[in-house]
Parts: sequence; structure tokens; C-alpha cells
Amino acid sequence: MSRIILVTGGAGNVGGSLVRELVKNPDNFVVVVDNLSTGDLNKMPDKQYPNWRFIKADTNDFNELSAIMTSFRFDYVFHYSAVVGVKRTLANPIKVLHDIEGIKNMLSLAKNTGVKRTFFSSSSEVYGEPYEIPQNEETTPLNARLPYAIVKQTGECFIRSYYREYGLDYTIFRFFNTYGPLQSNDFVVPKFVNSALKGEDIPIYGKGEQTRTFCYIDDNIETTIKILNEGSFRNDVINVGSDFEISILELAELVIEKTGSSSKVIHLPALKEGDMTRRRPDNSKMKSLLNRPLVSVEEGIQKMIDFHRNRMTMNV
Ligand SMILES: NC(=O)c1ccc[n+]([C@@H]2O[C@H](COP(=O)([O-])OP(=O)(O)OC[C@H]3O[C@@H](n4cnc5c(N)ncnc54)[C@H](O)[C@@H]3O)[C@@H](O)[C@H]2O)c1
Repeated sequence: MSRIILVTGGAGNVGGSLVRELVKNPDNFVVVVDNLSTGDLNKMPDKQYPNWRFIKADTNDFNELSAIMTSFRFDYVFHYSAVVGVKRTLANPIKVLHDIEGIKNMLSLAKNTGVKRTFFSSSSEVYGEPYEIPQNEETTPLNARLPYAIVKQTGECFIRSYYREYGLDYTIFRFFNTYGPLQSNDFVVPKFVNSALKGEDIPIYGKGEQTRTFCYIDDNIETTIKILNEGSFRNDVINVGSDFEISILELAELVIEKTGSSSKVIHLPALKEGDMTRRRPDNSKMKSLLNRPLVSVEEGIQKMIDFHRNRMTMNV
């Protein structure tokens, strides 16, 4: 049975990777809505696939989104559009807060146009500075303080409220740091890989002792598409991320080792805010869903090195 699916922010890193996978199923028709603020049309699927189209629009503008959602009548909506990135979100707090409008627009239109379920890209940032490690969907208190995290936490609250009051089904994905070939070069993994391949210094904020877990995009996409196809995690929240914790300094050293680069790590002043000390999900829900080991950080970094090396050779 065919399904019409809306992916907002679908010209971005995670959204673009999701769309590329969704169109491989001929039963899906995918509409991508993106304002191309950080997204790029070259992240769209190959033209060989007939079952998708791109519409440039701003999800924070009700009239623009309304015209699209009332004419297509989507079965499912993946709401991934957002201002993203630590430095960008700290520099543009008002713009970030405006994303609450996009979430409200999407929900009120979804409720009125018969959408069967919405999927929302929340973030590990809702846990803020950690109360406990690993961070569990049900038991770890949420601790959002900065605008980006507050938007995600408020978004989760709106989504649950639309379910309670109107019965609009949802799944909340709390994404932890996710990297892949479609990620812009200003994020940590592609930034380190590119610098190492060029033999340039690798800058890190502070001592680099802050830890993160890095989820390779394939694990994220397989999780979310499985949830869509199975209809599982209905009206539920799931951490989507790796549970292998690595410091930023160790990540830089791993990239240098794997590229055989002569690059040196240089230390910049620590960020005053927004650079959480630790983050690690309890990802047991995700692991039981995938039922296979996640892509290791060594494997994922190698894929990124191969991708960027190839791109440099082809000069694109
Ligand atoms: N990648 C991660 O590590 C990570 C972690 C936690 C949460 N997330 C969330 O996942 C989603 C996707 O993140 P990503 O890494 O792909 O980032 P991204 O910046 O690559 O993608 C976001 C996309 O949204 C678009 N966009 C932004 N504002 C818009 C608007 N008002 N209207 C229409 N389009 C708009 C951008 O042009 C971009 O294509 C975001 O909601 C982000 O907050 C990502």
C-alpha cells in the first residue's frame, strides 16, 4: 500500500539520508520541505527515483506549510527542520526559539489533515548537563537550559499534548550526535577528517575531555525506518545513538591515526556554554529493535575518511 510521507529538513544531514533510503521503497512517495538555510539540494536522492519531490519552504511560516500539507494529505510526517549546531544556535537564540512555531504549525496541520503519525527529531540536549549516565528515556530528568534544548523539550511537550487532546500519534526520537557523509563540514567529525586529510591543525575547545557518543547515520536511518514500517514505539520516546563514549581529544587522535596524518591537535579556549561534559544514552530500546551490533566508531570514521578522501581526489 502506498504511503505519502513528508520530511521537513529533508535537505539536511539526517533528513537527506532518510529520504534517500525511503525512496528505495517504490510504495513511498516522499515530499521534502526545506528552506535550504543549511541544507543543500545535492543531498537529495538520485533522479532515477521518480517517487519524490522537493519544495523550498519555511516550516515556521504557517501559510507556506499549510498550502503543502493541505494539498498532499500526508500519511506520515518526519519533522526534522531546525536550526542546528552548537555555535550557530548560541549565536542565533531568537531564530532558534522561532522553531517552536514550526513544530506547532506541523502539529496543527497534521491533526487537521489526517496524518497517521508524526516523528519528531528531539535531541540528547534535552538531558542538559547529565544527572546520570547512561541517560534513560523514562528515568533521567530532563534539564534543558539553552534555547535549542528548550525548543526540543517544548516540542516534545506539544507533541504529547496533541496526542492527549486530539489523539495524534507520535514517536519522539532523541538523537545523540549523528554523523555521516551528508553532514556539513562545520560539524566535529567531518571537520576533523577534512583537517587531517589536508594535514592542517585540528582545533578542539578546551582540553577535549568532554565525551560524546557518535552514531553512524546508517544506524539512525535503519532505526527510524524500522519504527515506521513496524508501527512500533507508538506514542513513545526512544534514544537513537551509540553508547560508546569517547572524548573529543581521543576522537581527534583516532582520526589522525586512521588518516596517517601529520596534523597536530591545538587547544582553543573552552566554550563558555553549550559544551556538555558528558553524554551517553541508554540505547537498549534501539539495540533491541536493530538486533545487531551498531557501527563502531573505528568503522564509521573509516567510512568518513574514505568518503572525504574520494571527494578530494575528484575535487568536488
Ligand atoms: N545530527 C545530530 O547529531 C543531531 C542530534 C540531535 C538532534 N538532531 C536533530 O535532527 C534534525 C536534523 O539534524 P541534521 O543533523 O540533519 O541537521 P541539518 O542542519 O543538516 O538539517 C536541518 C535541515 O533543516 C533545514 N531547515 C532549518 N530551518 C528550517 C525551516 N524553518 N524551514 C525549513 N527547513 C529548515 C535546513 O536547511 C537543513 O536542511 C534536527 O531537528 C536536529 O535538531 C540532530
